[in-house]
Amino acid sequence: GTACDVTDPAAVQAAVAAVAAHFGGLDIVVSNAGAAWTGPMATLADADLRASFELNFFAHQSVAQAALAVFRAQDRPQDGGSPVLGGQLLFNVSKQALNPGPNFGAYGISKAALLALVRQYALEEGEAGVRVNAINADRIRSGLLDDTMIKERSAARGLSEELYMAGNLLGAEVRASDVADAFVALALMQRTTGAVLTVDGGNVAAMVR
Ligand SMILES: NC(=O)c1ccc[n+]([C@@H]2O[C@H](COP(=O)([O-])OP(=O)(O)OC[C@H]3O[C@@H](n4cnc5c(N)ncnc54)[C@H](O)[C@@H]3O)[C@@H](O)[C@H]2O)c1
Repeated sequence: GTACDVTDPAAVQAAVAAVAAHFGGLDIVVSNAGAAWTGPMATLADADLRASFELNFFAHQSVAQAALAVFRAQDRPQDGGSPVLGGQLLFNVSKQALNPGPNFGAYGISKAALLALVRQYALEEGEAGVRVNAINADRIRSGLLDDTMIKERSAARGLSEELYMAGNLLGAEVRASDVADAFVALALMQRTTGAVLTVDGGNVAAMVR
């Protein structure tokens, strides 16, 4: 592993270079880092909105640029007439990008911009054989949705923590491992680009339309 602050483009470039040197190249990047700044838009500190965009949007742009530079430098050979498999970019978006919740504007708006970035890269890099896709997850137990937040949110809805976490069409908690499995599935879908795959147990309001 190598640590870096993804909001620092030079650090991202150094990390990508270290990875490429260690593994002899770069095939798939999962750009995963993110955090939620909260508060109503009307009184949200400008600094919070900008910080959210730095991490949830610009950092992903830095990762994508650094990865694409390596994909191009690799100059992989054509495989018998089918499109060049020129590398993959995968991004962790959020249901907030499609189904915004109150007081999550800073997060949701930057994630919506990230979803637009995914589509833009898919559009511009398809010809190079680079596939660009995203996951749209919701309510995953993690550092972002930690035990304290789960307690607060379930109490606010008058639900047990178990029922709150299983509040979806399948009635089952969605795990971080489900998100990881979805990234692997996207990585294997060789003719899919510009897609957002929902991993939330089913939520009509967050369905892509
Ligand atoms: N938990 C959910 O319900 C949920 C739902 C939808 C999307 N997501 C997204 O999933 C992704 C992962 O979040 P998570 O839920 O696992 O939360 P998490 O807090 O456990 O993980 C976020 C990770 O991002 C890293 N990070 C934050 N700022 C960074 C920086 N400047 N440089 C490098 N790394 C940095 C943190 O160290 C942490 O490891 C995020 O993009 C988040 O928006 C989470």
